[in-house]
Amino acid sequence: MSGMLDIKGGRACILAPSILSADTLAIGESIRSLGSEGDWIHVDVADGHFVPNLTFGPMMVSALRRGFPDAFIDVHLMVTPAEDFIGMFMPTGPDIITVQVEAARHVHRTLQAIRDAGIIPGVSINPGTPVCMLEPVLHMVGLVLVMTVNPGFGGQKFIPEVLSKIKRLVRERAVQSLDFLIECDGGVNSETAGVLVNAGCDVLVAGSAVYDSDDPARAAREIRRNAELEWRV
Ligand code: DX5
Ligand code: ZN
Repeated sequence: MSGMLDIKGGRACILAPSILSADTLAIGESIRSLGSEGDWIHVDVADGHFVPNLTFGPMMVSALRRGFPDAFIDVHLMVTPAEDFIGMFMPTGPDIITVQVEAARHVHRTLQAIRDAGIIPGVSINPGTPVCMLEPVLHMVGLVLVMTVNPGFGGQKFIPEVLSKIKRLVRERAVQSLDFLIECDGGVNSETAGVLVNAGCDVLVAGSAVYDSDDPARAAREIRRNAELEWRV
């Protein structure tokens, strides 16, 4: 894929607030309350099977696309088998569909199908999965999502051991002259943002740190500011 790093546009990071922590009865309002502080809309799809939680379906992505026609919608599928679900989400208007490498029986075919639909394919790894699992498909993706907690729920504690995986992906991207964005998801807040961008993370997903705050726009701004401070060091 080409042009992905251009989306980052020389910024320290892209911020992708996760609606998993937004007010379930007022998701649209929650997103609007961020103003311009949120860059992407991160949608966590959990199936009660791959992960022990049940969240949003394709109707949510369709509604987000209708309500926010210009938004960049980042769909994170935590469902298995991934290939049985992508067909439901592809017509709903997402910009990215990311599948967990552990949840796809045929990850290459799954990513190819997403790309053939004109959607950016992403692939994700759990904290217990090594980067080498991604090597055969790195050239196909626009985004690699490194889970920094075990997937399923918001509000968990960041697992620092994953930092070495981010650094390894940065090296691999340079060696192979690839262009994917590196996204981190789980336990991101104004403290962990700095260490993540310093390790090479391009996209920060933040759920509870943004939406559980009294002032989500200010919380988002603080995450971004700390990321910028660290990034320039
Ligand atoms: C976890 C989800 C995350 C979650 C992050 O399974 O993939 O996107 O919303 O929540 P926080 O930022 O609260 O850790
Ligand atoms: Zn997620």
